[in-house]
Amino acid sequence: MGNLISICDIKDDVQDILDLAIKIKAGEVEKSPLEGKTLAMIFQKSSTRTRVSFDVGMYQLGGRAIFLSSNDLQMGRGEPIYDTAKVLSRFVDGIMIRAVEHCDVVELAQHSDVPVISGLTNVEHPCQALADVLTIKEHFGTFENKKICFVGDGNNVCNSLLLISPLLGMDMSIACPKGYEPNEHVLRIANEYAKEMNTKITVSDDLNVALDNVDVVYTDVWVSMGDEAEELQRKAALSPYQVDSDLMNLANEGAIFMHCLPAVRDQEVTTAVIDGPNSVVFDQAENRLHAQKAILYYFLKDE
Ligand code: CP
Ligand code: NVA
Repeated sequence: MGNLISICDIKDDVQDILDLAIKIKAGEVEKSPLEGKTLAMIFQKSSTRTRVSFDVGMYQLGGRAIFLSSNDLQMGRGEPIYDTAKVLSRFVDGIMIRAVEHCDVVELAQHSDVPVISGLTNVEHPCQALADVLTIKEHFGTFENKKICFVGDGNNVCNSLLLISPLLGMDMSIACPKGYEPNEHVLRIANEYAKEMNTKITVSDDLNVALDNVDVVYTDVWVSMGDEAEELQRKAALSPYQVDSDLMNLANEGAIFMHCLPAVRDQEVTTAVIDGPNSVVFDQAENRLHAQKAILYYFLKDE
């Protein structure tokens, strides 16, 4: 039994899960592979895409999902993660959790007898990264000689992209102001993967450097859930990194624009770019469903 908390958990399976997602999207898997299975979905933070795509995904695979707001769970009143893991494992076949603290998801998985899938923590967003690479593969047909640049805050979404890109043979650059670099531990592992796979990772505060020879320009909000208290300083530091048409022009011709959504129009990205012809943000959002159906199939289906 495996868990998906970090892209590192599926280091050797990324390609297989991606191939499965492509097959599932094309309608090439058997009907109702998860018949009779139940997924518990714990949310400690807001969600539109993750919640709806996991719920619909389970339904389409023949199973069902139960939405559990942490405010309503006894966990929200202090029931230990250990007890929650043990109890839920007696009822359901998998647990999806969107948590404030990454370490809480690790603890839940340690004590759970069923697979645990992260739907975002403060450190990573692995399901998003899988949907993103599916979108890139669909758009370009290959990862070979492709380079993705993440612009802005080196956050959870950036961290998962950093780990998955080298595993698929893509170069990645980060354009961020000083103090907003990605997680150091993640960066170290990503660099190990890049070395193994002969790809390149660069981090720079210089947009001209980071956007050199780039095929995918990716950004995310400047103020992630939980960072609200730092809103003013974040806006000040990150405003030179707004993705506008001039920034897009630094990338290769035909470069696409990506964003995990939700977006703040005219903050991290201009309306012209996110609603422009090179934006694939809604394909990306749709691919959450297909990628997660592959994840659910992979982790929950009986042998
Ligand atoms: N991208 C993403 O995870 O969206 P939600 O917060 O709406 O789930
Ligand atoms: N970085 C954002 C992603 C939301 C899907 C956040 O954590 O709020």
